[in-house]
Amino acid sequence: MKRERSNVRREASEVRHKFVEIFGGEPVAVVWAPGRVNLIGEHTDYNDGYVLPVAIDRNVWVAASPRWDRQVVIHALDFNESVIFSLDHIERDEARPWSNYQRGVAYFLEEQGFDLPGLNAVIAGDVPIGSGLSSSAAVEVSMAYAWQVLAGFELSRVDLALLCQRAENDFVGMKCGIMDQFVAAMGRRGHALLIDCRSLEYQIIPLPRAAIVVADTMKRRGLVDSEYNARRRECEEGVRILQQYLPEVRTLRDVSVREFAELEGRLPEKVRQRCRHVVCENERVLESVAALRAGNLAAFGRLMNESHISLREDYEVSCPELDIMVEAAWKVKGIYGSRMTGAGFGGCTVSLVAEGAVEDFGVKVAAAYQKATGIVPKIYVCRAEDGVSKLSGQLLAC
Ligand code: GLA
Repeated sequence: MKRERSNVRREASEVRHKFVEIFGGEPVAVVWAPGRVNLIGEHTDYNDGYVLPVAIDRNVWVAASPRWDRQVVIHALDFNESVIFSLDHIERDEARPWSNYQRGVAYFLEEQGFDLPGLNAVIAGDVPIGSGLSSSAAVEVSMAYAWQVLAGFELSRVDLALLCQRAENDFVGMKCGIMDQFVAAMGRRGHALLIDCRSLEYQIIPLPRAAIVVADTMKRRGLVDSEYNARRRECEEGVRILQQYLPEVRTLRDVSVREFAELEGRLPEKVRQRCRHVVCENERVLESVAALRAGNLAAFGRLMNESHISLREDYEVSCPELDIMVEAAWKVKGIYGSRMTGAGFGGCTVSLVAEGAVEDFGVKVAAAYQKATGIVPKIYVCRAEDGVSKLSGQLLAC
């Protein structure tokens, strides 16, 4: 199987050359932020729970220079479109929705009182859009960081992630949790992050000697915003009912599997299913980290499989394409586990595969998926990379 990789120099030089072509001078900064794949812990972040994502070697790149007025000029290579707006008047752009992520970041940086310069920028990426690998967080985090590098203001990486989440929640209108922005800012090469989405404490967890394989169904997520926000409301409803019996509960994070088993009969059916997924998924994340630490990949893989079944049956965010891909993966020799990753309703699966079995895995899963759906999937091995970064002067000069 082809091992596709982002190449720092190649990508940097592409946005840089385009910047020179459009703006007529070298960019002052070139930064990038990664997409992510979540190994386990789905739809837990907005319930204050645990997640285990990895920042991957697919990125969004920004080449930028400050302007001495308050104008922001951004050219998006992937859309071959440009936008211009003023920092004094930041509004949503319905004609070019891709620019609402950048606008939202600028809006909230301004709102926090940072004195932003205007900006000329070229942006490009190889995180497939709408595939569940979080291209939007990569756009937000790379853009916020570009401004930070140019303006030099103080903002910790965690605060940068929180600001980007706010841009997505309150400017773009997607009520996402903190996972994607957090790992895009804080990811660590060769490691997954165990994030406690309540305290925002995190641990870096070394990855095992096994391949992380992403399989893109090529079905782009539909319905995701409305269904996503509906799931959030169902979880909140569950909390309101459970609080009658467990007054100390603030979110589903506070409910143990045992408590839930005792009380689940009090919840309406759909709410019960949603809450069951979240309560058990939190437990699975902690068990899966223990399994990784013990080097027990078989146990880790079983938990991944259980997570998929729970997302399919209880949370109902899978779709036929994701199920076909996962079931094809489960049949291949050398697979530890496989599940849908991200919000669902399309996008990608993630599988943990023994290193010697990767080639065979790609061929067999692609063939089975294509036979069942008529769609050619994209399958690639991911490396775990660092979070948002900037090019040093030396690399810039290449
Ligand atoms: C999307 C959101 C995340 C998270 C996942 C589901 O990627 O942006 O915050 O909720 O869905 O786990």
